[in-house]
Amino acid sequence: MEKKKIEKEYLLKLNLLNKHNNLYYDKSKPQISDSKYDKLKAEIQNLEKKFKFLNNINSPSKTVGFKPSKIFEKYKHKVQMLSLSNAFDYEDLRNFEKKILNFLNKNTELQYSVEPKIDGVSASLTYRNKELVHGVSRGDGKIGEIITDNLKTINDIPLKISSSNFPKEIEIRGEVFIKKKDFLRIKDNFANPRNAASGSLRQKDPQQTKKIPLNFIAYTFGFIEKNYFIYQSDFLKELKNWGFKTNLDNKVLSGITNLIEFHKKFEERRFDLDYDVDGLVYKINEINLQNRLGFTSNAPRWAIAHKFSADNANTRVLNIEIQVGRTGALTPVAKVEPVNIGGVVVSNATLHNEEEIKRKDIRIGDIVKIERAGDVIPHVIEVDKIKRDKNSKEFQFPLKCPFCGSETIKEFNKTTKKYDAVRRCMNSKFLCEKIAIEKIKHFVSKEALNIDGLGKKVVEKFWDLRLIKMPQDIFRLDYNKIKNLEGWGQTSVNNLKSSIEKSKKVTLQKFVYSIGIRHIGIENAKIISENVKNISEFIKIIKNKKYDYFLNIDGIGETQINSLRHFFSYELNFKIMFELSRILNIVSDNSNRSGKLKNKTFMFTGKLDGISRAEAKSMIEKNSGNTMSNISKNLDFLVIGENPTKRKIEQAKKLNIKVIKQRELYKLLN
Ligand code: IVH
Repeated sequence: MEKKKIEKEYLLKLNLLNKHNNLYYDKSKPQISDSKYDKLKAEIQNLEKKFKFLNNINSPSKTVGFKPSKIFEKYKHKVQMLSLSNAFDYEDLRNFEKKILNFLNKNTELQYSVEPKIDGVSASLTYRNKELVHGVSRGDGKIGEIITDNLKTINDIPLKISSSNFPKEIEIRGEVFIKKKDFLRIKDNFANPRNAASGSLRQKDPQQTKKIPLNFIAYTFGFIEKNYFIYQSDFLKELKNWGFKTNLDNKVLSGITNLIEFHKKFEERRFDLDYDVDGLVYKINEINLQNRLGFTSNAPRWAIAHKFSADNANTRVLNIEIQVGRTGALTPVAKVEPVNIGGVVVSNATLHNEEEIKRKDIRIGDIVKIERAGDVIPHVIEVDKIKRDKNSKEFQFPLKCPFCGSETIKEFNKTTKKYDAVRRCMNSKFLCEKIAIEKIKHFVSKEALNIDGLGKKVVEKFWDLRLIKMPQDIFRLDYNKIKNLEGWGQTSVNNLKSSIEKSKKVTLQKFVYSIGIRHIGIENAKIISENVKNISEFIKIIKNKKYDYFLNIDGIGETQINSLRHFFSYELNFKIMFELSRILNIVSDNSNRSGKLKNKTFMFTGKLDGISRAEAKSMIEKNSGNTMSNISKNLDFLVIGENPTKRKIEQAKKLNIKVIKQRELYKLLN
């Protein structure tokens, strides 16, 4: 038992160290001071010295002497480096294709470029006049770091191109990785090949990068001066002609059935390959269709990563804790005996909600199988009921909020006519402390105000010290107090000050998202902000309770409107928004939109010919226009398709709204 206890303590410390490594190296947002970090590392090493049975691939004794620098010049990508959505099973895959066919209003077999998804780190190489001018890391997708000199040490990356048909300017994107056999030689220094590649690329001294044998495989382009490619597979072929390495297993396949068959076969070969793969990427092969499909806010609609089965392991549930999020949702989390799953120490697994615990009958003390796939939160697959203790009791889900003691409820969904699976603390406003803290964390998060240096732990600390209670308190922090806190000093205070100052200029979209209204995610915040002209307009609508205004906006439904109404029925929420609007410089998203349809609104009636509503909408938005779902005096054009609703046409005519045919819409769009 003693041994078990020691092992547990050791793994907990390792896990913590891993977390801080990640915050420091990958996120560049350290949450503890260097001295605390060193102390934690020493504690782990002392344990190892004392108890020889302790041994783990993540141990600092195996990764010492390698500390990538975190100071690189930043670079704004000309074309964002987005991620891919994931498909874990065939159903996800079928849904992916269904959505595409609906969007394109097609019912044909689609052709895909199928490419192994190498598990490395992505990089973007800019070539101008056939010469590599800079190489950049992905960063957060918008802003990366200039690591040209390090990338230049990779043999697979051509510095000059001799082909005559090479574009004048192009960003070539691909994966930097280390081969399994090369990793074997240095495996004592890193947790896995991916870490080795990422750490090596972020060395300050390119001579250090050179020591580790890195490879580069190209698979896509970012900015391209003139795109003449018809198929992704043509582009891949051309990459090879230009002198880039491409994956030998790239393929062109049609139809989901063939994709599934290939996935099965490839997964069997997975471990025989010379590099780590975590799935296959399927891209719609026709570039023209890719362009029509476009992007959602974080991934292309035309591609998906079909993951291989996740790693799993058995462990014991030590406790079931209830977390409360910013919308009041009670989320159960299993605290488990730390276990290594595919190179990562896992000590938490999400249990999703009350229903999930009931369905799987998960109890404290149970031995459970936990699955982890890529960056997805680990979850419990099943309970080993044979190993269950006779005296174990069913888990009783709390009926009151564990933080403020208020009532919790499961809401009734009018559309599905079912009760929600999620239980919520109804003490919204800022009265449930836990909800309030979570709201502040949301407010400063990356997609919202993006305040560097104000991570989750810092928010919690400032809250405990009563430095912040409301989002607006962030802008009147007592820096003299902060300067004297442990782990803080003048430099970190100055950094924080400047990132808070920087965050004051924010787009209306991000602002609307940042207030944390339930059901108003990034996409809905975008739709709202593109429709209301500016923040004063938004405030006016809310103040006068003119929620019907939102009814007209395409994409905003009853759920969102009820949520807005509910949120602002609390005086405090309105006050917070109003005060923030005074402090911040909220710029309208429309201001930098310059398309042909700028400030013009459209609505459809009847079936369109050859394209879906979704695509027509996306075409209008690409040209800076907006779409509405109801006729009002704010509407500029009613576009009529086959079998339009007569009443709508009459209404439009009464209001002097232009009624146009699909053909005329195309004319407006050129
Ligand atoms: S295309 C907009 N193709 O997967 C689409 N990505 O989750 C951009 N990856 O960051 C990505 N192999 O690091 C693409 N053949 C492939 C890939 C690939 C690996 C990685 C890449 C990207 C991540 C997306």
